[in-house]
This record gives sequence, structure tokens and C-alpha cells, in this order.
Amino acid sequence: MRGGRAHHRSGLAPVVAVELSIRVATGDDRSFIESLGTRTVMDSVSAVRRPDLDDVVENFERLLNIVEAREHTALIAEIAGARVGFLLLLHSLPDEVTGIDQAFIAYMAVAREHRAKGIGAALLSAAEDEARRVGVPYMAMMVTEDNASARALYERAGYLTERRLLCKML
Ligand SMILES: CC(C)(COP(=O)(O)OP(=O)(O)OC[C@H]1O[C@@H](n2cnc3c(N)ncnc32)[C@H](O)[C@@H]1OP(=O)(O)O)[C@@H](O)C(=O)NCCC(=O)NCCS
Repeated sequence: MRGGRAHHRSGLAPVVAVELSIRVATGDDRSFIESLGTRTVMDSVSAVRRPDLDDVVENFERLLNIVEAREHTALIAEIAGARVGFLLLLHSLPDEVTGIDQAFIAYMAVAREHRAKGIGAALLSAAEDEARRVGVPYMAMMVTEDNASARALYERAGYLTERRLLCKML
């Protein structure tokens, strides 16, 4: 998948000046995914929880194993051949209430120095193309309320808040 120049916003120059490409990951990308995933996963911890960093990292490794055990597509974003982001897409995780089939974004991340250039939006768009190819009627994901950049990305791409996950410290 060729992303071309990333993120054209009306009236503005493209934010990424060099060519961005999105491709399907290979086994060689696993350590990149693991490394960027474990470096960014704290952004998904809400202010409600006080976890141990090691536990959060370990949990990301567990998520990676769960994704790999199911039908999925891992996408890699590259700029000038250097990996700058990834997205993990589960092909099917039906909605728990309606049972309607949907693809599910298990996780995505862009390297800090490459953020706010439209790379996340390009990964998301490629994931939607992949979900359409798989043939599911919906795409869903969970996002932490405090994660402003992820929420901005998803809202801009047309995602609506369907349910709220409530939590209180006892
Ligand atoms: C979420 C994430 C993948 C977004 O990647 P990105 O490449 O920066 O995304 P984009 O450049 O496409 O930007 C998304 C939008 O959010 C905006 N944005 C970026 N940082 C923001 C912030 N801190 N607050 C509000 N908006 C922000 C961008 O300007 C952009 O808006 P635009 O479309 O109007 O330009 C990236 O921030 C990340 O890797 N975060 C850590 C991991 C994570 O939280 N993953 C999501 C798990 S659900």
C-alpha cells in the first residue's frame, strides 16, 4: 500500500514532506512493533489507575501474543524506508452487545518524533481498507479518555463514542 504524501489538509501543504508508505508487516518487524509498543503503551493508562510500568509492558506483550494467535493484519508505516509506526488489526471481534461482526484495532503507535504529521491517519485509513477487504461491516477500537491525541485522530476519522467503560478505585 502506498500512502503517497501523508495527510493533505485543505488549503495547507502536506505535513509530511517525504513519501510515506504503508505495508503489511513481516516477521522481521516484530521487534520494532514490540519496542515501539512497549515505549508508548503508558499513553493508554488512564489517571484512574496506578499501575506498575513493568506490568503494563508485560500486558502489552500479552496483547501482542493474543493478536498473533488470531486472524489479523499488522501494518507498518515507513518514511524513506525507516519504520515510524504500526497498527495491529484483528479481522473479527464481534460487538459484545449486538453480536455484529467488526474488525478491531488492537493497538497502534507512531514514534514520538513523527507524530502530528498524519501518519496515524494514514495507518488508520489503510486499516479500514484492509477491514473492507476482509468484508466486515464495522471497525471498532477502545481508547483511553485521557489519550487526547488518539481521541483526536479517531474523531477526525469519523469514529463515534458507542459506549463508556467506567471504573472507580476502591
Ligand atoms: C495516537 C497516535 C497513533 C497518533 O499518531 P499521529 O501520527 O500523531 O496521528 P496524526 O498525525 O494522524 O494526528 C492525529 C490528529 O491528532 C492531532 N493531535 C496530535 N497530537 C495531539 C494532542 N496532543 N492533542 C490533540 N490533538 C493532537 C493531530 O494534529 C491530528 O489532527 P489533524 O488531523 O487535525 O491534523 C500517536 O499519538 C501515538 O502513537 N500515541 C501513543 C500510542 C497510542 O496512544 N496509541 C493509541 C492506542 S488506542
